[in-house]
Amino acid sequence: MEADFWQDKWVNNLIGFHQTDYHPWLDLIAKHKNNAHLFVPLCGKSLDMWPLAQRYDKLAAAELSEIACVDFFKEAKLQPQVDSKGLYNRYSLQRSPFDISIWQGDYFGLTNQQLAIGQQVDIFDRAAMIALPALMRDDYVSQLKTLFKHATLFLLTLEFDQQELSGPPFSIDETVIEQSFSFADSIELLATSELSDKIFAQRKLKVSHLVESLYLIKW
Ligand SMILES: C[S@@+](CC[C@H](N)C(=O)[O-])C[C@H]1O[C@@H](n2cnc3c(N)ncnc32)[C@H](O)[C@@H]1O
Repeated sequence: MEADFWQDKWVNNLIGFHQTDYHPWLDLIAKHKNNAHLFVPLCGKSLDMWPLAQRYDKLAAAELSEIACVDFFKEAKLQPQVDSKGLYNRYSLQRSPFDISIWQGDYFGLTNQQLAIGQQVDIFDRAAMIALPALMRDDYVSQLKTLFKHATLFLLTLEFDQQELSGPPFSIDETVIEQSFSFADSIELLATSELSDKIFAQRKLKVSHLVESLYLIKW
């Protein structure tokens, strides 16, 4: 998906992927927390970042849309500091218990040095990898690997018959996970749930079955 596709979604408020409540597996994720700092790629204005930021010393995130970054803080009635950093705007809030920096711009161009959260982090992926078509997946994963030498990735996936729906979202099954993360030290399925109502965030998907899973991937 190109940048214009996502900018249009935000400008026209077509953000059915945005979940209006916290993800029910955040407590399970907390039990497997492995590092002090968290990275959230393609973060949108995910509410999950608030409880997650309370559990980590620092949270850094990446998001293309200015609207998402502005609304994330506005809806929480908090005022971020906004700095221009080359091709990016950095929205940051350092107020206990939060240390949040959202880098507004292209995830694929970010460097570890910019993020300043170290080489060993936890990563929370909700609706990031599944937002990307198969052709962009390898670049997405290889950028994660370039950004962080060691990581514990919490990856939420959806599985369905892709013939029934043109993405996003894109279905990701165990085989894709194993291929994409063949370099990882371990891959563990932490949870899986059949979404019988076929509801993903604010969308009802026209598919005959829908399964959400949470993988724990370490490298
Ligand atoms: C499906 S949404 C998921 C947002 C969020 N993770 C959530 O759960 O609500 C995908 C997000 O990725 C952002 N995005 C897409 N391509 C990007 C890129 N190259 N760099 C940064 N953000 C990107 C979009 O603007 C959009 O907000």
